[in-house]
Amino acid sequence: MDHAAARREARNLLQAANQLGGDDAIALLNQHVARNYGLLLQDPIVAAQGPWLQTRSGRRLFDGVAAYSAANLGHGHVLVKETLKLFLDSNAPTVLGRFLPDPWLALFGRKVTQMTGFDRFLPANGGVEGPEAAIKLARRWAHKVKGVRGTPEILYADHCFHGRTLTVTQMFDPDEKAAVEGFGPWPAGFRRVAYDDLAAMEAAITPDTAAILVEPIQGEGGVNVPKPGYLRGLKELGRKHNVLVILDEVQTGWARTGELFCWMHEGEPARPDILCIGKSVSGGFAPVGGILADARLMDLLGPGSHGSTFGGCPISSAIAVAALTAIEQEKLVDQAREKGPWVMERLRQIAKDSPRIHQLRGKGLMFGIELTRDGPDGHAVAEKLVEAGLILKDTHRWILRFTPPIVASREELEFALEAMARVLAGAPTAS
Ligand SMILES: Cc1ncc(COP(=O)(O)O)c(C=O)c1O
Repeated sequence: MDHAAARREARNLLQAANQLGGDDAIALLNQHVARNYGLLLQDPIVAAQGPWLQTRSGRRLFDGVAAYSAANLGHGHVLVKETLKLFLDSNAPTVLGRFLPDPWLALFGRKVTQMTGFDRFLPANGGVEGPEAAIKLARRWAHKVKGVRGTPEILYADHCFHGRTLTVTQMFDPDEKAAVEGFGPWPAGFRRVAYDDLAAMEAAITPDTAAILVEPIQGEGGVNVPKPGYLRGLKELGRKHNVLVILDEVQTGWARTGELFCWMHEGEPARPDILCIGKSVSGGFAPVGGILADARLMDLLGPGSHGSTFGGCPISSAIAVAALTAIEQEKLVDQAREKGPWVMERLRQIAKDSPRIHQLRGKGLMFGIELTRDGPDGHAVAEKLVEAGLILKDTHRWILRFTPPIVASREELEFALEAMARVLAGAPTAS
């Protein structure tokens, strides 16, 4: 195809997307795409900038979930966009067999290890591949280094969320029927333990335990913030019993909680053996994730042990290098630290006038708003919030998550807070 023809065709494709009416887009989604997500609104999102989304009908909505924390930098960050344009113009390969050396992956590896303080990075596509790879690495360590003869066991926490592959799907709470029903049997070697309970975790450890896998704050579980010292305590247990600690910071990473990673609130003694990353590592431009560990562990994975066609491919690496540079240059950690307590204070004021707010939880710019059970549930409230211009997402039916783009200004955050104040004000009304 020559260049002029390609340009014409590309314009046609863009026009087709731009001209697809709201109803038509919804009809095509319903007809051709698996129905594993319910839609919160019927007006397609056609543009996004910073914390704002724009719908086909021209409405402007505040993205109060930052695409599940994949858009901590906001949507369409200019540095990532510009890097991506130059990358494409440079004729660099977008994808390469990983057996071929790639300068962009070299830069990505250097950047991500420098920022996190680990020796090595294993790249992957999106979040769930992190815990998957971490579990493989922990099992290999258990077999080859710890000397476990039977089934190496991974301990995980109740109410956790690590993604949707078969291995971690079994970790949903059993009452999460839509998520677990009909998908068994489950891979062996996993045990559920109470979250934020060091005594329960210690009691669960056996000579065959390979690793403890937890989120430092449970996001999907309802923004459950453990007691201070929990992560240090887990690491102490790990040292005492020769067990690895895997922290899944796919959601809490990249400044969300007011540190670059949530474990950093508890300092070096809480540093995990394996760190899972994802979401905002790409600034929301591509599915990128992976795990970090020191050489003594990561070097257990030699050629042939693990891999992925697209994990760490040049285009993903270029995007990630730009996003990580933007996270530093935007001083995202300082922004979350500075705005977080202010937002929490505003939420407390809103809660005073809203009998529907049962409890507020959070850290940095990660908030859970738990509703009382005597009115419309979280989904119904989220629908009302959309009408008021704010996207929030319910979890566990009664909890609304508010994880705004960290770059949102105070004025923009105030827009979101006022929408919440309006929708949640007054006495409960029947659903
Ligand atoms: C803590 C945690 N781990 C893993 C995942 C899975 O990430 P992905 O949906 O990109 O596979 C998520 C997604 O929300 C998450 O919150």
